[in-house]
Amino acid sequence: MPRPSFAPLLGEARVIPVLAIDHLEDAVPLARALHAGGLGVIEVTLRTPVALAACAAIARECPEVVLGIGTILTPDQVKQAVDVGAQFLVTPGTSEKLGRALADSDVAALPGSGTLSEMVALMEMGFREMKFFPAEAAGGRDYLKSVAGPIAELRFCPTGGITPANAPDYLALPNVMCVGGSWVTPKTALAKRDWAEITRLSKEAAALRARI
Ligand code: 3PG
Repeated sequence: MPRPSFAPLLGEARVIPVLAIDHLEDAVPLARALHAGGLGVIEVTLRTPVALAACAAIARECPEVVLGIGTILTPDQVKQAVDVGAQFLVTPGTSEKLGRALADSDVAALPGSGTLSEMVALMEMGFREMKFFPAEAAGGRDYLKSVAGPIAELRFCPTGGITPANAPDYLALPNVMCVGGSWVTPKTALAKRDWAEITRLSKEAAALRARI
């Protein structure tokens, strides 16, 4: 059976907000605030104690949101993420063991890669869609542009150091499907539960397009 593809989940979205949720009660209003601004595809990272419970709440109460679960580091976490309703799975980097667990999961995935050798290893496991992380530190837009020479069929979601200023340059590359980043949910707005500000930032991010 061919692997489920990530691109159809993306629809028109070009920006994926990367979230770290500290308080369970924030999960649903945060997801709704992002969706209201136009960002309906989100990545909730497993970096906080309440992350899995937050994902379960979003999966249950926000069916309009496409829920990705990120910072997956072990096969056990692959299973936990699928069990709470992840529609796609994201890793920062990918060992062979983790890659196999993703490939066996029947859920779309963006395995993390930062070098050409890692990309080739993921290709051997059947992946064509990947996260490029940490994008700016790992070579940025120039690196992805160079990758497209020898391996044109790969599609990336660069994440790590992406901003509203550099996102349009990444989005202009033919091998970039979307970008991810945490700038849409600043800690100051989260601390104040300023959902209107999150919706405003979401709207701004949803309007970002390729710089031609
Ligand atoms: C991630 O895990 O994708 C990053 O933490 C997001 O990177 P950023 O904070 O630089 O946007």
